[in-house]
Amino acid sequence: MKLLQQALGLGLGLGLASLSTTMAAATVAGPVQARQLAPRAARSEDFLVQLHKNLLDIESITGNEYAVSNWLANFLREQDWTVELQEIAPKRPNVIAYPPGVQKGKARVLLTTHIDTVPPFVPYRVTKNATTTTIWGRGANDAKGAAAAQIVAALNVLDRSKELNLPADALALLFVVGEEGTGDGMKYFSSHAPHNYTHVIFGEPTEGKLVCGHKGALGMLLNVTGKAAHSGYPHLGVNANNLLIEAMAILLAIEKFLPSSEKFGDTILNIGTMIGGTAINVVSPASNATVAIRLGASTPENVRRIIEKALSPIVKRAAGMGGKLDIKWPLLGYPPVDIACNIDGFKSETVAYGTDIPNLQGTHQKWLYGPGSILSAHTLDEFVTLSDLNAAVTAYEKIILHTLGIKA
Ligand SMILES: *[C@@H]1O[C@H](CO)[C@@H](O)[C@H](O)[C@H]1NC(C)=O
Ligand SMILES: *[C@@H]1O[C@H](CO)[C@@H](O)[C@H](O)[C@H]1NC(C)=O
Ligand SMILES: *[C@@H]1O[C@H](CO)[C@@H](O)[C@H](O)[C@H]1NC(C)=O
Ligand SMILES: *[C@@H]1O[C@H](CO)[C@@H](O)[C@H](O)[C@H]1NC(C)=O
Repeated sequence: MKLLQQALGLGLGLGLASLSTTMAAATVAGPVQARQLAPRAARSEDFLVQLHKNLLDIESITGNEYAVSNWLANFLREQDWTVELQEIAPKRPNVIAYPPGVQKGKARVLLTTHIDTVPPFVPYRVTKNATTTTIWGRGANDAKGAAAAQIVAALNVLDRSKELNLPADALALLFVVGEEGTGDGMKYFSSHAPHNYTHVIFGEPTEGKLVCGHKGALGMLLNVTGKAAHSGYPHLGVNANNLLIEAMAILLAIEKFLPSSEKFGDTILNIGTMIGGTAINVVSPASNATVAIRLGASTPENVRRIIEKALSPIVKRAAGMGGKLDIKWPLLGYPPVDIACNIDGFKSETVAYGTDIPNLQGTHQKWLYGPGSILSAHTLDEFVTLSDLNAAVTAYEKIILHTLGIKA
């Protein structure tokens, strides 16, 4: 019972009293009966809202996912699923869940999203006006909205397995840690869990559209070593700031000539940080900059070669002056990602943000869908509307059936 009270966050005034009673009775009676007694009532809007709220209430900033992973594992066990906590690092478990009857790693369709969030934590809050109920808080759409909707959609589809003639090995769920960091959760899953899915449905805020693809990614660090001198006697030193600025000017000049494609658009640069120098009257002894590159075409290796070639005159000149311009690639990244996006009744679009999709190796068909907008994700005003959250459940059900070739 304690578990269930935590799981459902009882007494939160969201009209869950009757649901709680049903679930409590079912749990006391054991998991098999829970499955027979609970489901239909359990898939109410309240069930979805409460699941979403519980996920948002648990802070899970990247690196601190332990509590949310364990809560989710318990919740899925309450639904009679088999749950594996896959520790990718101490206290950082991915949650892998198989419905009754599905063998580990043998499902056809995998539904997945991430349960870590960016900082800072923003508490859960609901506002209502005449037309719209809006749910605010960290993870509301990125990506706990997708997580809640995927779970409810999976349960709904399994409830209808007889009617739909659902194959026994239809689906499994995966909730990873670390997506907002290095993608280490998905990378670990990819290299450690046996998998052979025909389709993988990823969840991120896509405004309820199917995403047809996203740009590739590459991260660059320029590190310049100069030599300090009195600013009145610059010939005695090597100014690292000057060299860095020249290098940046070249990058800005070549940006529009980097590879592009009709589908993914231009390759775009973001000079994210520039640090340099020690004082106003000292020739700068050191500087560095980081640059994010989002690829509209080609491969990271190719774009890397183009940039290194363009910067090579400055690299040579820096060395000739007794300084050094190092080009490093802390993120080798991936090429543009092609995703399936044709299902009747869905709008589709191409996006510029990155996802965990390239971190899962395999020949599976990829899908990307989720409620809420990337425009509010990562802000203090992150939100999802209740109607979008509800719509996402229906949409995930449609996508699941489409990938299984079931016409409903
Ligand atoms: C209600 O809130 C939504 C979302 O914040 C907003 O788009 C809409 O204009 C509001 N409607 C009214 C009648 O204030
Ligand atoms: C993966 O699936 C394909 C097609 O469904 C099948 O031919 C293959 O044997 C499977 N591989 C493994 C390792 O299960
Ligand atoms: C950058 O250069 C400085 C010397 O100017 C050096 O101390 C530092 O380790 C370098 N950083 C990297 C990442 O190479
Ligand atoms: C960038 O420069 C700053 C200031 O000199 C230094 O503290 C930092 O370590 C440098 N970063 C790298 C990656 O070298």
